[in-house]
Formats: sequence, C-alpha cells, structure tokens
Amino acid sequence: MLLEIEDLDVAFKNDEGAVNIAAADVNLKLDRGEILGIVGESGSGKSSVSMSVARLLPCPPAFYPKGRILLDGADILTMPVAELRKIRGKKIGVIFQDPMGSLSPLHRIGDQLVETILLHEKMAKKSAAAMALEWLGKVGIPDPAVRSRAYPHELSGGMQQRVMIAMGLMLGPDLIIADEPTTALDVTIQAQVLKLIKSLHQSNSGVLLITHDLGVVSQMATKIAVMKDGRVVETSGNPQAFFENPSHPYSRGLVREAKRMELDVGDDNPPQHGWQA
Ligand SMILES: Nc1ncnc2c1ncn2[C@@H]1O[C@H](COP(=O)(O)OP(=O)(O)OP(=O)(O)O)[C@@H](O)[C@H]1O
Ligand SMILES: [Mg+2]
Repeated sequence: MLLEIEDLDVAFKNDEGAVNIAAADVNLKLDRGEILGIVGESGSGKSSVSMSVARLLPCPPAFYPKGRILLDGADILTMPVAELRKIRGKKIGVIFQDPMGSLSPLHRIGDQLVETILLHEKMAKKSAAAMALEWLGKVGIPDPAVRSRAYPHELSGGMQQRVMIAMGLMLGPDLIIADEPTTALDVTIQAQVLKLIKSLHQSNSGVLLITHDLGVVSQMATKIAVMKDGRVVETSGNPQAFFENPSHPYSRGLVREAKRMELDVGDDNPPQHGWQA
C-alpha cells in the first residue's frame, strides 16, 4: 500500500495552551494508480490531514496525539528531518492552492525548477535545464525558453499554478498531494489544470485530491472520503455509486447541493480558451 493513514489525530495548541483537535481518528488508504478525493466543508480538517502527509504543518502549534502515516510502510511522523527532505519533491509531490506560497519571488521560475531537480537527481545542470523546459512545455506554458526566465510575479495566476504543478510532478513522485489545486483559477483554466494533473500523474502514482468541489471529484476520483468536523464520515471505493446513493446524511446534503448547483450553472459550457491563462 502506498499510503496508509491509521487512527490519526491532528491537533493545534494555541499560545494559551488550549488544544483544538483539527482531525480525529482518521483512517485512509491510497494505492498506486488511485485518486482519492477528500471532500468536506471548510474547517473539516482536509488540509490538516493532507499537509501532515507531507509533514508540512509547523510543529508547534501542530502536534499528533496519536496515529501513523505510512508511506510505503515508513512512518512519516517519526521520520528524521533529513529523510523527509529527501522524499519531499521526489517521493511526495505537493500542489497547493496558493502558488506564491511555494514559489520563491526572488528567483526566475526556470532556475527554481532546475534547483529542485538538482537537489534530488544526480544530473548535469544542462540536462536539468532541459528537463525544466520540457516540463514547462508539458504543463502548457507557451514559449518555455522565454517564460523560464520570468519571475513568478511576471506570470498570471494560472501560469504560476502551472509552474507549481510542474514542480510537483516533474520528479515523478509516487504520491501527489493536491490541496484545492485549482480554486484560485477561473473555471475554464480549472478544467484544464485538472485534466493536466490527471494525465500527467503517472499510472504508478497515487493522488490525494482535496477539494470542496464535488464536480471535480466526480470527474477525477477513483475513491472518495467525506470529512466533517475533523472526522471521516464516509468513504467509498465507487464514486459513481457514491454520487447516486451517498450513505451519510451529510454526504447526501453535499451531493444534493452539488447537483443543484450543476442544474443552476448548466454543464454545457465547454472551455473556450486554449492553454493560455
Ligand atoms: N495553524 C493552525 N493553528 C490552529 N488551528 C488550525 C491551524 N490550521 C488549521 N487549524 C484548525 O484546524 C481545523 C481544520 O482546518 P483545516 O484547514 O484542516 O480545514 P480544511 O478542511 O482544509 O478547510 P478549508 O476547506 O477551508 O481549506 C479548523 O478548526 C482550523 O481552525
Ligand atoms: Mg484546506
């Protein structure tokens, strides 16, 4: 099994010492080739869990009262920091909601990609540069050779997002964590970016896809987990069956609301634009 989250609690302690349990008793499994969609309302603990998988929550204030997060059998939560650094990027690729949070404003995007490649792969700088350009092309950035010299702020939000996706996927990670990867983008670009993640994620990798958008989940996920108030209230290995007949009352509400929205908006607006954001 690629990823096993076992009886995980994620908690935060504030300055006064008060403890807020962000996620409790979470059990989730993800294998290679699967896309696990985690849905649930804001504050339900989706990011607390997914960030923990890459151990990206600052501790403190975060801490782990109990549980394990096993990546290929090795517990992320007890792993030495040096080992964690090695697996982030290489074994775990992370795509966040906010690209500026993970791109450095001070360096050209091409250089940032090259640096990440060289951190993990033994290759000549020239080959790394070629690989960076290739990936900028793959994520649909026009004129990669020119754009690679841009600083993040010189790119549109959609283009920044694509750079981050290249960063998250280029080393061929076994596990891809995408937390609201498209929320900041407009609807037509969203669809393109999701397609991109789906097509670029290698069939031997697993994807943890966090979103409050059930439409996205229905198009992408091979299995689903619904979170509410820090707990997983329903899991399904069959998205189609889930959408037809969710079992938990909260999931039923979510699905009903998503279907109502779909009726309101209509689904017959195919993307108008090309790859350009
Ligand atoms: N750094 C933090 N310090 C204290 N509490 C936090 C911190 N980050 C998250 N929390 C709390 O953890 C709980 C779960 O938040 P989390 O961000 O995991 O939810 P989410 O499902 O990702 O929500 P959203 O859909 O808005 O992204 C919330 O009660 C939140 O206030
Ligand atoms: Mg979140």
